Amino acid sequence: MSCLKVIRLGHPVLRRPARQVPAEAIGGAAIQRLVDDLIETMVEEDGIGLAAPQVGQSLRLLVLGQPAAGAGPDAEAIPLRVLVNPRLVACSTDREWAWEGCLSLPDLRGLVPRASRVVVEAAGFLARVLQHEMDHLEGIVYLDRMPDLRQLAFLDEYGRYCQTQAPDAPAAAAQDDARGAQR
Ligand code: NI
Repeated sequence: MSCLKVIRLGHPVLRRPARQVPAEAIGGAAIQRLVDDLIETMVEEDGIGLAAPQVGQSLRLLVLGQPAAGAGPDAEAIPLRVLVNPRLVACSTDREWAWEGCLSLPDLRGLVPRASRVVVEAAGFLARVLQHEMDHLEGIVYLDRMPDLRQLAFLDEYGRYCQTQAPDAPAAAAQDDARGAQR
């Protein structure tokens, strides 16, 4: 296993819809190596999730997971998962607001609306992380989901001014997960 370089906003692969992992490649040595490297990189970088395009591989493959204590008191534990060619079957129409970070957008936090429930079996924090990672497979970063870019902050200023505001309103800082967490 080896730690991979995470590409940052401005690299064209981050904005390109990713290719399906071919059926015959699933379970093969090359994909297994990539999965192992994604997990190692995510852990090393303190991420909650990491999608293959974020390491320059334009493939529909992502890993996610974090221990219970990983990202603050409100964060939920997420068991380690590997998703190959994942598909959002359905999303609820309501929206929850929470602050997000991204390993490809270091030192930033943004307030992003997301569906509170999605099928692939996910709800709450897991639903948020899934949507964030699956966006990477479409060349979308969380900035594109933000209706108000005034709700974008550098990490230091986020910790200082945003974290303490009340949750659940666009103008407020949600006490999410996303605290300190990057995907
Ligand atoms: Ni991300």
